[in-house]
Amino acid sequence: MTQPTPSLAAAPAPQTPSVTAADFPASFIWGSATSAAQIEGAAQIDGRGPSIWDRFCSEPGRIKDGSNTAVACDHYHRYPEDVRLMKWLGLDAYRFSFAWPRLQPQGKGAWNEAGFDFYDRLLDELLAAGIAPHATLYHWDLPAALHDDFGGWQSRKIVPLFADYAAEVARRFGDRLASIATHNEPWCVATLGYETAQFAPGITSRAAAAQVSHHLLLSHGHAVQAMRAETRTPLGIVLNHTPSFPAMPIEADRLAARLDDGLNVRWYMDPVFRGCYPQDVLEHLGGDAPRVAEGDMAAIRVPLDFLGVNFYTRTVLSTQQPPVLAPGEMGFTDMGWEIYPQALTQHLVRLAREYCPPPIYITENGMANADEMVNGAVADLPRIRYLQAHLAALSRAMALGADVRGYFYWSLLDNFEWNSGYAKRFGLVHVDYASQQRTPKHSAHWYRDFIAGRAAPPGAR
Ligand code: FCB
Repeated sequence: MTQPTPSLAAAPAPQTPSVTAADFPASFIWGSATSAAQIEGAAQIDGRGPSIWDRFCSEPGRIKDGSNTAVACDHYHRYPEDVRLMKWLGLDAYRFSFAWPRLQPQGKGAWNEAGFDFYDRLLDELLAAGIAPHATLYHWDLPAALHDDFGGWQSRKIVPLFADYAAEVARRFGDRLASIATHNEPWCVATLGYETAQFAPGITSRAAAAQVSHHLLLSHGHAVQAMRAETRTPLGIVLNHTPSFPAMPIEADRLAARLDDGLNVRWYMDPVFRGCYPQDVLEHLGGDAPRVAEGDMAAIRVPLDFLGVNFYTRTVLSTQQPPVLAPGEMGFTDMGWEIYPQALTQHLVRLAREYCPPPIYITENGMANADEMVNGAVADLPRIRYLQAHLAALSRAMALGADVRGYFYWSLLDNFEWNSGYAKRFGLVHVDYASQQRTPKHSAHWYRDFIAGRAAPPGAR
């Protein structure tokens, strides 16, 4: 392993006086996140079945750099080194996902013991390092067999299968996991996977996407119920929230922003916490609205222990021609996403007021940056500024009443960024994909120093 050497890349001094970890409660959890398909590699090793993302990568033109998930960060073999990096960072917690096709290659039937053994080893390593494992069951790598058999999430048949998978994970690992989330970002799964075809499985049907979203939510409800019988570990769901703003103070833009909010925030929050879909979005979908059976909404509104919120940016909605663009006063990330931390404060306060949710974790927040390795160091100052600004925004939200218990930076490592392939780097730690060498960026040093400045030593919590 490349030992992180503080002298190599000491973090630059913050530009502006800002928040410190001592401004957060002593019990606040500091973490970082990854997902299986994006880092594990070993796609055809030890009995793992193919996923819809393996398949998607093999279709020409789907992934911008023509890459795939076959090796990724080779975390499957290098996890001890990666856990050492987490320990060096001083993380309290690590958010990762289980690869369903590694645990159950066909998505139903036989379990793959070699897959369970891998996560068993990973959990041992994390717990020995004093790092709490927070798991996600579904971070987009559906066993391809389920897609082939009956269309995957498009069919209601998937609901009991997902609940079985959830129960098995809870039975085997529940006592060692600090939390389990059912789904990561169902909006992305449904909309990007089945309506815009940017993500696997690459379908273009609004009706299919709406039905998929319902099956994802229903499977969440059934999975939580099935896991309650197996474990007492906290259970929840992770939603991506991109707050919607009108570009101009005009009625048409306000309506566009309201609909956009309905599609990405309320379409998921309302069923999970209120047991209904928002009426305005149902009307917008018309004949494409999902088929909902009796009892479904009650099953979806199952009591949760936490809500995971992934926040990256906001959306600015314009009905003018040419459209009025997001101002980007703090700039844009390498994904082209506007940096707008104020929206994090506003949004968390809004969630607290409108939904009274259970405790919230920021399960993802971070930026892609056009990082360059110069003399063995990556001076990613924009990422440090992004982190500072978002942590300050988070602290303000908490002062205004949002009950947030932890923060996970996306991502620990540079990794496979879905249809962008390896071209976009989100990591605190740089990965040289040719050599698999890991190098902590300046932001990793900054985050490490930040966490070390917490109010109380971890042992005192
Ligand atoms: C989120 C995904 C995560 C990663 C980040 C950049 O939508 O959950 O896997 O790709 O975006």
